[in-house]
Amino acid sequence: MRRVALCLTTAVFSLMASAQTITYSSEKKVWLITSEYSSYAMGVSPDGQLQHLYWGGPLWRIDDLPAAAQRRDISSFDPHQMLENEEYPGWGGPRYYEPALKVARADGNRDLVLHYVSHQIRGNELDITLKDIRDDIEAILHYRVYPDAGIIGRWSTVRNRTSQKITLEGAQSATWYMPRGDGYRVSYLSGRWAAETQLNREPIHEGMKVLESRLGHTGHNLNPWFAIDSGDAGEEHGRVWFGALAWSGNWRISVEQTPYQQVRVTGGLNTFDFAYLLGAGEELETPHFYGGFTNQGFGEASRLLQKLELESIEPGEIKARARPVLYNSWEATEFNVTEDGQKALAGKAAKLGVELFVVDDGWFGKRNNDHAGLGDWVVNPQKFPHGLNSLIEYVNKLGMDFGLWVEPEMVNPDSDLYRAHPDWVMNFPGRPRSELRNQLVLNLARDDVRDYIFDVLDKLASQYNIRYFKWDMNRTFAEPGWPEVSPDEQKEIWVKYVLNLYDILARLRAKHPNLEIESCSGGGGRVDLGILRYVDEFWTSDNTEAFDRLRIQEGFSQAYTAKLMSAWVTDVPNMNGRNTPLQYRFLVAMQGALGIGANLNKWTDADFALATRMIGLYKQIRSTVQFGKLYRLLSPRTNDTTANEYVAANKAEAVLFAFRHSQEYSTLPPMIRLIGLDERSIYRVESIDGKLIGGSTEYSGAYLNNNGLQLMLKGDFDSTAVLVHLVR
Ligand code: GLA
Repeated sequence: MRRVALCLTTAVFSLMASAQTITYSSEKKVWLITSEYSSYAMGVSPDGQLQHLYWGGPLWRIDDLPAAAQRRDISSFDPHQMLENEEYPGWGGPRYYEPALKVARADGNRDLVLHYVSHQIRGNELDITLKDIRDDIEAILHYRVYPDAGIIGRWSTVRNRTSQKITLEGAQSATWYMPRGDGYRVSYLSGRWAAETQLNREPIHEGMKVLESRLGHTGHNLNPWFAIDSGDAGEEHGRVWFGALAWSGNWRISVEQTPYQQVRVTGGLNTFDFAYLLGAGEELETPHFYGGFTNQGFGEASRLLQKLELESIEPGEIKARARPVLYNSWEATEFNVTEDGQKALAGKAAKLGVELFVVDDGWFGKRNNDHAGLGDWVVNPQKFPHGLNSLIEYVNKLGMDFGLWVEPEMVNPDSDLYRAHPDWVMNFPGRPRSELRNQLVLNLARDDVRDYIFDVLDKLASQYNIRYFKWDMNRTFAEPGWPEVSPDEQKEIWVKYVLNLYDILARLRAKHPNLEIESCSGGGGRVDLGILRYVDEFWTSDNTEAFDRLRIQEGFSQAYTAKLMSAWVTDVPNMNGRNTPLQYRFLVAMQGALGIGANLNKWTDADFALATRMIGLYKQIRSTVQFGKLYRLLSPRTNDTTANEYVAANKAEAVLFAFRHSQEYSTLPPMIRLIGLDERSIYRVESIDGKLIGGSTEYSGAYLNNNGLQLMLKGDFDSTAVLVHLVR
C-alpha cells in the first residue's frame, strides 16, 4: 500500500515538474514554485506587501496555502511589520531586521516601502516587480527554477525610474525564511590561507551572525555558502535549507533570528563601505543567490548543489569534459623556471600519464622572486631563449596540453607596467599604498585597465597554443580608492571591479572556446558560484598536505563538486612537517581533479611505478568521481577513519576511498556501509591493494548498503580504495 502511495507521489511530482514548476492563483494572489525536491511560495497581502509563505518539502496543491495577510501590532515595540515575512523588504517604516534594499534620495529622504506591482511567468522563470509606495524606485525580483536540482536562483534588479539620482546603501539578492520556530543550526565554511573551507555547525540563537568578505575577493576566511537544519539533521537524514551566493567580491550573508522565532537569511552585496549611485533611468542587478531544500540531510544538500554546478553553472560546451590529469611545476621549481628544466619535468610527467602540463609563476618579465615583474606579461628571454613556443611544442609532442600561470589583476611596483601607469592601481591619493607580497592591485573597475588586461590575455591565448590559464590573485584589497571618478561614485569600485573581472573572463571564453581557466587566489580565496560561470575548476588550497586536505576537501564538498576541486600530490615532508605515504597522498587527491605538483626530479623508480599505476587507476574511476554522486560516509572531523564514496549516475560503478589516521590498540576501522547502490543488484568489490577482509568478492547492493565492508587499515596514514562494479 505504502509503495503504491509513494509511486503515485513520485508520478505526481514528475508530472508537475514536466508540466509547470511555477503556478499562480489570481484569486489568492499566491505563487507556488515546486520541484521534485521542494516548494517555495509567496503571496501579496491585501495592503500590497509581498510576503514569503512557505519553503520546504514539495507541495502540489496551491489551494492549501493561506493568502498573505496583514498581522496586528503586538505592542508599540512589536510592530506588525516585524511579524510579516516580507520577501524583499525595503528599509522604511518600522522595520528593524536586515533590509534587502536601502536607498538614499538626493534630498536625503531614505524611507522605502516596497509594494507589489506586477509579475510575469516565463517557463521556469518568474519576475515580480515591486515599487516604492510613492516613488518610481523599482525592485524586480527574479526567480529561476532548476527543477532537476530543486534549486531556485534568486536575484534582483533595482531600477531608478525617477528623474533624480539615488544612492543604494544596501542591495541584497534575496531574503530567505525558515519555517517559524527555533532550535535551528547553521553550518558554514571558515578558514584562512592554507586552511580553507573548514566546516562549522552551531546553534542559531536570537541576534545575527554575519558571514562576509570585506577583502575585495571572495576570501579564504568565509565562503558564501550556508546550510540551516532543523537541529537534528545528519549526513543522510533531516531537513536542511541551503544556499550559495554567486559573487566574487565583497559579499554578505546574515543569519538572523528575530524575537518572534523567525530565522531569516539575507544575502548579496556587502553593505560595508558600499554605495552605488543610480542616475535617472539606471539600474543595478544583484548577484544570484541559489537556495534549495532537502529532507535527506547535509549529504543530499551537497549533491543537489553539485548537480546544479555541473549541469547549470559551469560554462560552455566543455563542461562535459572530465578534468585532465595535470602537472604543475610550482612546488618543484618555484621561480627558477627554465626551458630545459621544464622540458625535463615534462618528459617525466608525460611518462606518468599526465595530460596537461602547466608552467606556474616565474616565466615572464623580471620575475625571479616575488619582488618584481608582475604586470609585465612577456616571456623572459633568459629563461626561454627559444621563446615559449619551443617548450609548448615539446609538451604537445609528448601528447600533453599546455597551461600557463597568470596573475593579471596585480602589479609589482618594480615592473615596467607600474612605472608607466602608477595611477592604474587602486589608491587614495596622498595615502600609503600598502603592499602585500610586494604587490598592488590594479583598479579593474577602470575600463581602460579592464581592456588592457583582456588584451594581454587575449594575445597570450592567440599567440600560443595555451589550453589552460591558472588565473591567480594573490592578495586582498587595501586603500580601495578610485580618484578618477566623482566622490559619490568611488565606492562603486567594489562592485565594478568584479563586474569587469567577469567581463574579461566572458570575453576570453567567447573568443577562445577551448581555453580552460582555473580560479586560484593564493589557494581557495576565490571559490564561489559567481566566478564558476567563467571557470572550469578551483585551486582548493595552497595547503597540499594530504591529512590537512581531508578536512579542507570535506568542507569544500559541502558546497562544490569534486570535478571543480583541484587536488595535487606533492612531496613530503609537507606543511606541519608531516610525512604521509605516496599512496595516501594519491588517494586523497584522486577524490577531486587530480594533479601532480611534486618535484619529479627527486622521485625514485618506486615512486614513478606507484604514481603511474595510480594515475592509470584514476583515469578508470575519473568519470565516477567527477560526475558521480558523493556520499561522505565517515568524516575526518569526528573519526579516526575517513571514508568517501562516489557512485556513478547509473549505479553501475562506485569507488570508496578510505583513510586511517592512527590505529590504536590493534583495533580495526569501523565497518563502512555503502550508500546509493541498487539493493537488488550484484556488485564485484575489489580493494586496490588487498585491504578488504572477507571471503567473497561479490555482494548484493543490499548487503553492501546494510552490512558494509570491513577494511584492514593499520598503523598511521594507511589508505585504500575499493572499486565497485555492477555484475548483474
Ligand atoms: C599562489 C598560488 C600557488 C602558486 C603561487 C605562485 O600562492 O596559490 O599555487 O601559483 O601563487 O606565485
